[in-house]
Amino acid sequence: MKKESILLIDDDSSLRRVIEFSLTEAGYRVLPAASGEEGIALLEKEPADAVITDITMPGMDGLEVLRRVHAADPGLPVVVMTAYGTIESAVDAMKQGAFDYITKPFNRDELRLTLERAFRFRGLERENVRLRAEVMDKYRFDGVIGSSEKFQAVLDVAGRVAGSDTTVLITGESGTGKEVIARGIHYSGTRSAGPFVAVNCAAIPETLIESELFGHVKGAFTGAVKNKEGKFELADGGTIFLDEIGELRVDLQAKILRVLQERTVDRVGGAGPEPVNVRVIAATNRDLEREVKEGRFREDLFYRLSVITLLMPPLRDRRDDIPLLIDHFIKKYNPGAAVVVDGDARAALINYGWPGNVRELENVIERASVLRRTDRIGLQDLPDKMLRSGGSVDDIILNLPDDGVSLEELEKNLIIKALDKHKGNQTRAAEFLRISRPTLIYRMEKYGLK
Ligand SMILES: Nc1ncnc2c1ncn2[C@@H]1O[C@H](COP(=O)(O)OP(=O)(O)OP(=O)(O)O)[C@@H](O)[C@H]1O
Ligand SMILES: [Mg+2]
Repeated sequence: MKKESILLIDDDSSLRRVIEFSLTEAGYRVLPAASGEEGIALLEKEPADAVITDITMPGMDGLEVLRRVHAADPGLPVVVMTAYGTIESAVDAMKQGAFDYITKPFNRDELRLTLERAFRFRGLERENVRLRAEVMDKYRFDGVIGSSEKFQAVLDVAGRVAGSDTTVLITGESGTGKEVIARGIHYSGTRSAGPFVAVNCAAIPETLIESELFGHVKGAFTGAVKNKEGKFELADGGTIFLDEIGELRVDLQAKILRVLQERTVDRVGGAGPEPVNVRVIAATNRDLEREVKEGRFREDLFYRLSVITLLMPPLRDRRDDIPLLIDHFIKKYNPGAAVVVDGDARAALINYGWPGNVRELENVIERASVLRRTDRIGLQDLPDKMLRSGGSVDDIILNLPDDGVSLEELEKNLIIKALDKHKGNQTRAAEFLRISRPTLIYRMEKYGLK
């Protein structure tokens, strides 16, 4: 007896009953719903292993169902049903990530076979997630969340360099997890029993940085009342994390280079070089190659540091990870409480541009966790700016005319506006519209634009 649950959404009650009967007979548990709204609400209460939805329905249509389902669970297979003659919408649904479509009328075997494939696929996905979890476990990147391809590629390299002493340069925008990865590399490597010492090169006053990094001896300068170990010595046997290395003065860059080459440090006012055994991981949100070209960063140090470079992808380039991160932070900020984020809020979180990356997402969830009046986090608990920036369709489409509106006209105009806004730059316009560049070009051709 199979026991997979299937959410079945169709506004046609007789067809719904026929399919329900056939699937129940085949051993599935069926959750019937007469509208998209009802189906999504049901899904929030009862987990399902697959969704079958009609495309054309009054109110929330099948494509919107697909979008909402995937906002909550990107791995849940959605099969769409289309009537003869509406194949375009099925193609659209496939492009948007539907598992498959079937054309009405269909026979029961067709539907059952499609479902069996969907469950096999779901099983494989789970297996994938489990394997990835194992990889993460192996490298003990605890609490480092992300299963998107881009993020996994970074984790994979990080995992492989962890076991060596190679210098690593981590670049990426603010809040993308540079420090998180640096710690992961340290704690999953051979030096994990040694110290991890983080130094923010931008936060230490210029006059103190040399003594902070390399230490000083008593009397080396006014105020040096006793001997002091520098961060490099403190990190002996472990890892030093030189954060914001792009902000370091050029003369100090030369000194860091020396440590890397000679594996020794000179205390300020000291008698001579002392050996240190440290691994160096550096991070910056500047484009160091450009800094080199423009003479602000030493080329030789750049090459020393960038033996292995990890580029942390911005959150907007790995939206698949957003649902995982949401769940992670919800647990973190609501310990012991069963808090959920509703579909609208999830969609807004996924569609937002995230200039502040994971840090910003974490802050938004922390804030919502404090403000929430119930166990459900909704749009009202999110900052206004998120709703303005495309999170809420209502804010874009203010007045729907009574006599209907042409979706194609709307889409065409939206594309023109997006291209205008980005001065004809297709890559940026596509990013703005959250579609791929080929999709944008395809639609531009379709509407005869340029
Ligand atoms: N993959 C991730 N999984 C879980 N939490 C993450 C992840 N990436 C980042 N964070 C969280 O986001 C916040 C910012 O991360 P981190 O400090 O590593 O960013 P950063 O790249 O060093 O940013 P900055 O350049 O501003 O210093 C931290 O609170 C961290 O815990
Ligand atoms: Mg940082």
